[in-house]
Amino acid sequence: MDFIPYGKQLIKEDDIAGVIDVLQSEYLTTGPKIKEFEDALSSYTGAKYVVAVANGTAALHLASLVLLQKGDKVLTTPNSFLATSNAILYVAAEPIFVDIAEDGNIDLDLCEQALKNDPSIKALYAVAFSGNMLDQSKLKYLRETYGIKILEDCAHAIGANEGSIKAASCTNSDLSILSFHPVKHITTGEGGAITTNSKEMYEKLLVLRAHGMVKTPDMAPWEYEMRELGFNYRITDIQCALGLSQLKKLDTFIARRIEIAKRYDDAFNNSIIKPLYTYEGKSSYHLYVVQVDFTKFSFSKADLFKALKEKGIGLQLHYIPINKQPYYKGLGYGHEKNPVMDQYYEQCFSLPMYPKLTDEEQQYVINTLFEVLNG
Ligand SMILES: Cc1ncc(COP(=O)(O)O)c(C=O)c1O
Repeated sequence: MDFIPYGKQLIKEDDIAGVIDVLQSEYLTTGPKIKEFEDALSSYTGAKYVVAVANGTAALHLASLVLLQKGDKVLTTPNSFLATSNAILYVAAEPIFVDIAEDGNIDLDLCEQALKNDPSIKALYAVAFSGNMLDQSKLKYLRETYGIKILEDCAHAIGANEGSIKAASCTNSDLSILSFHPVKHITTGEGGAITTNSKEMYEKLLVLRAHGMVKTPDMAPWEYEMRELGFNYRITDIQCALGLSQLKKLDTFIARRIEIAKRYDDAFNNSIIKPLYTYEGKSSYHLYVVQVDFTKFSFSKADLFKALKEKGIGLQLHYIPINKQPYYKGLGYGHEKNPVMDQYYEQCFSLPMYPKLTDEEQQYVINTLFEVLNG
């Protein structure tokens, strides 16, 4: 059996054919595939406007330039990849790390308490962690009651839905972002996108993606004006061709991820391994996270990771609390009281979860886990 990682892409002949077509065409970048991919993402997510960019971090950076002002206080989660709160720092705004709820998402009730205590808080950056939708009625309530701006980081969550509300549709947020890194649901190698229903934000994002340059019909043919400081965060046509081909298969990828999740749910029912949540129709399962109380065992989580690696299985951990990272500690973070996050970090790890994982491989992961944990 080959090494079983925690996540990997699934690339087939049709994906490769799509990329080859672009390589043989006129445009490798700034060509027609960009808008085609954006339009396909718009109809998939239901958001009116989409801007595809170089990666999910670039998406977060541009979103923050549009959403935040220097010094703005922003509620966010410690349970994410660094990029979520780094983007707040990129624009000299101030992340405030709020504890998580039992499902690994930011605790929206605690967010409300923070908003009540400090009316100067301007925004909420929430992550649909592991592919599990944020509580949409609560987001709506917070947005309407406190007038805050909301960004949904849906890097884990494309294809998830809560009833009729789809992830990254921006039904109850100003902007959402997606990532197309190879471990995510669909890949473009590197890649990301921002979704929104605001025409004004969309137009700003387009300008910021390309150096802050503006070109209007009344200008001379060579002319362009730089009106603000932008970036080169463009994605290529090569990447978008891959994205378009992958997007067609997204629903079958998710169906397979759900099948895998249900098998894990059944295997861990009433056992020493506790799934972060069991299938209830909301998650598109970028990750399958479990928790084990290691205080009950004579070995540590690091020992478990090493033992499984020796047996050809790659576990991963999502996430080390961002506020406890040395850089953040240097900024004065790390002393927040986030007991749920702290306990979660002690106990959590992620199991292999990707469409290509076979039933046989999954059974091997389950058996090996129990074997090692039971000594
Ligand atoms: C929740 C979350 N947000 C943002 C990102 C950044 O995306 P990218 O790696 O495409 O820059 C990631 C990537 O791992 C992520 O997991």
